[in-house]
Order: sequence, then structure tokens, then C-alpha cells
Amino acid sequence: MNADELKKQAAKAALEYITGGIIGVGTGSTVNHFIDYLATVKGKIEGTVSSSEASTERLKQHGIPVLDLNSTGDLEVYIDGADESDHYLNLIKGGGGALTREKIIAGASKKFVCIADQSKLVDMLGTFPLPVEVIPMARSHVARQLVKLGGTPVWREGFTTDNGNVILDVHNLEIMKPREMEQQINAIAGVVTTGIFALRGADVLILGTEEGAKTVQPK
Ligand code: A5P
Repeated sequence: MNADELKKQAAKAALEYITGGIIGVGTGSTVNHFIDYLATVKGKIEGTVSSSEASTERLKQHGIPVLDLNSTGDLEVYIDGADESDHYLNLIKGGGGALTREKIIAGASKKFVCIADQSKLVDMLGTFPLPVEVIPMARSHVARQLVKLGGTPVWREGFTTDNGNVILDVHNLEIMKPREMEQQINAIAGVVTTGIFALRGADVLILGTEEGAKTVQPK
């Protein structure tokens, strides 16, 4: 099976967690499959909160209501992909650049169900370059601080986030203590969000595998 088929498998299995209410919807190719499956059961839910303009557009194309998080209160469940997950379900996210809104929705959700193909499960985070969203005027300052932490930041040139900011992709980080590193990077002036999701990681990981969808609980 190719990676896209594995993503579809994980996306379909996430429907099991859709029992009603308002749900959070992430961003990316795996979530795009989830949105297509969600359309088949849309009568079950009151609506969604979306983490990006791209997901909002796809949800609306399917006639699925998209609501403002300020009007919903906490969400029942958040379904989103990841670029990497370790066995504790600490994640790297933000490959698609939607990390800030994703982190807000994850924080506002009672349950975070992560969906991914099997290649995303790793022993230690950091092989995937860590996305960090930065206020544009702070780009060089933040980059220098990230070098002090041992990383090699690369400006994602030509890319602007939905919030009007820039992304630095940080290579060569060995993220041995994800919670500590999340806090350290978040504390740099000019950083909006780091793509480490450890303080609020996933509650469940559904992996698409050659043997079918597999549910992983945090170690
Ligand atoms: C979007 O900003 C990311 O956090 C995505 O969740 C992540 O990049 C996963 O994307 P795919 O589902 O396309 O692999």
C-alpha cells in the first residue's frame, strides 16, 4: 500500500471517535481524507472548528458548518495529522504551516486523536525539521537563539502563515526532552508557536499500517 492509502485508512478509522457535538479539524493530506469521510456522517455533528483556511474551504465544499472557536466552548474531539509522533504521543506538527491554530484547537479539545501513516511513528522527535512560527520582524533574532539550542534554522521563504507570520524549519535538533524544549522555544521573544506538541500531545494515535488501522495509546 502506498502512503496515501495508509493515510486514508487512519482517516476512516477516526470516524469511530465522532459521536456528536462540535469537533476540531486539523490540516494536511491525512486530514483532507478525514474531511471527505466526515462528509458521509455530517448529520451526526453540530459543526466544526477548523485549523486553517485550506481545511475551512474543504469543509465548506462538503456543506459542513465551520464555527468560530470563540462561540463554541471546549470541543469534544480534535482530529489532526502529524509530521512525527514518538511512543508517548509527543508530536512534531506544522509541516503545512498551520501549527498555531492547531495548537489552540488541541488545547481547547477534550480528546486529541492523531491520524497518520505508519512512517510517522519514531523513537525520538527531530528528524523532521521542527517548524517554528515567528513574527516577521523577529526572524533573525529567533534564528540566532535556535542556533544556540543546537539547531539549524532555515527560513521557509515565500511562505506566510494564515496569521501573517513566517516559519523557520529547524534542522538537526535531537529532541530528547520534548516538554522542556517546547517551553524553551516558546520563551524566545518573537516566537508565536513551536511545532512541538508535548505539553498537550495526542491522547490516541491511529496509524495506517499494512495490517490495517492500528490504535496506539501513549506509553
Ligand atoms: C499541518 O500544519 C501539520 O501539522 C500537519 O498535521 C502535518 O504536516 C501532517 O500532514 P500530512 O497529513 O499531510 O502528512
